[in-house]
Amino acid sequence: MTANIFFQGESYSLQDGETVLECLLRNGKDVSYSCKNGVCQSCLMHSTQGEPTKESQLRLKDSLKAQNFFLACQCRPNQDMGIETLNVEKEFTKGIIYDKEMLCHNVVAIHIKPLADIEARPGQYINLMVEGVVRSYSIANLSNKDGVITLHIRKIANGIVSSWAHDKAKTGDSVLLRGGMGDCFYLGTNNENSFPILLAGTGTGLAPLEAIVLDALDHGHKGKIHIIHGGLKPSDLYHMEKLQSLADSYENLSYTPCVLNKENSVIDIYEGSLDAIVNSAVSTADKINLRAYFCGAPEMVNLLKKNTFIAGVSSKHIFSDPFLQKHT
Ligand SMILES: Cc1cc2nc3c(=O)[nH]c(=O)nc-3n(C[C@H](O)[C@H](O)[C@H](O)COP(=O)(O)OP(=O)(O)OC[C@H]3O[C@@H](n4cnc5c(N)ncnc54)[C@H](O)[C@@H]3O)c2cc1C
Ligand code: FES
Repeated sequence: MTANIFFQGESYSLQDGETVLECLLRNGKDVSYSCKNGVCQSCLMHSTQGEPTKESQLRLKDSLKAQNFFLACQCRPNQDMGIETLNVEKEFTKGIIYDKEMLCHNVVAIHIKPLADIEARPGQYINLMVEGVVRSYSIANLSNKDGVITLHIRKIANGIVSSWAHDKAKTGDSVLLRGGMGDCFYLGTNNENSFPILLAGTGTGLAPLEAIVLDALDHGHKGKIHIIHGGLKPSDLYHMEKLQSLADSYENLSYTPCVLNKENSVIDIYEGSLDAIVNSAVSTADKINLRAYFCGAPEMVNLLKKNTFIAGVSSKHIFSDPFLQKHT
C-alpha cells in the first residue's frame, strides 16, 4: 500500500522505501536537514496524524517520543501521516553571542549565553539555527556551571553556518539553540569514580572531549584520564598550552598532541597517526573498565571505535560523535 504524507495543506505519495525527508525534498519542499543519518536531528518534525515509525524515534529523548516528534530522514511510514515542521519559537531557545575568539587558523570559539535553561551536559551537542539553517555543534565547556555555552567551529569552504560563525557573527547577535543531544558526556557521579578514561579526536573533535575532561576533573574523578588531540600539522592544534597546564596540575591527567607532519616544528608534539597512538594507549589500559570517547572526522571516529572494540573494550563503554557533514 502506498502511504501519503500531508504537509502544509498538500498530499504527497511516498515512493517505495522512501523516507519522509526524501519525499519532501523530491517535491521541492524547503525543509531542514544535514546528515541524513539519524544523528544531527536537524530534520526533526512533528506528527499530527499517524504514529511515527520506531526507527525514526530511536535516538530521541522520551519526552520528544511521547509528543510524536520523529526524524524525517529515518522515517519510512507504512501508513498515512500528517506532519509539520518544528515550531521554532517553542522548540528553540534564544541565545546571545557573548564573545568570540579565534583558536587557530581555522577554528573560532563562539560563546553564547542562552536566555533560558538548556538541558545539556558538557560534551553533548546542541543544534544551532542561523539564517534558517540548522547544524550541530558540541559543547566545549562546563556550560551547566558557566551559564554560557562555548562552541568550537571549524571553517568549511562555502559552509553556511561555519562561514557565518567565522565571518559574520559578532558579540550581541542573537541565535537559536536546541539540545542537548548525544551520549558523549562524563558518566561518573561522585569523587569515588576510578575507571580510566581515554579521549581522542581530530580538529574540533577536541570540543566535546575537552568538556568531558573538565567535567570529570570537576567531579573529582580519581582514575587516569588521557586526552589525545590530532591534526594534520602543528597549526591545526589549539588549546595546547591550556591542556598541558591542566595536565601539569592534575596527576591523573595526561595530554598527547599529535600531527601527521611536524613540519620542522620544535614544539613537543608527537608525529604519527592518531589511530596508532590510540591503539597503543588502549593496549596498555585496563580494558574491562576503560571508558573511551572518540569525536571529530567520521572516518577516524569509526576506525578508532572499531580498533578499540577489537582490542577488547565493550561497545557499551565506547562513546562517539562522528561530525557527519551535510549529505546531499
Ligand atoms: C553530532 C555532531 C556534532 C558536531 N560538532 C561540531 C563541532 O563541535 N565543531 C564543528 O566545527 N563541527 C561540528 N559538526 C559539524 C557541523 O554540524 C557542520 O556539519 C559543519 O560546521 C559544516 O556546516 P556548514 O553549514 O558550515 O556547511 P554546509 O553548508 O553544511 O556544507 C557546505 C559544503 O561543505 C561540505 N562539507 C561540510 N562539512 C565538511 C567537512 N567537514 N569536510 C569537507 N566538506 C564538508 C558539505 O558536504 C557541503 O557540500 C558536528 C556535526 C555533528 C553531526
Ligand atoms: S538526523 Fe536527519 S538529517 Fe541528521
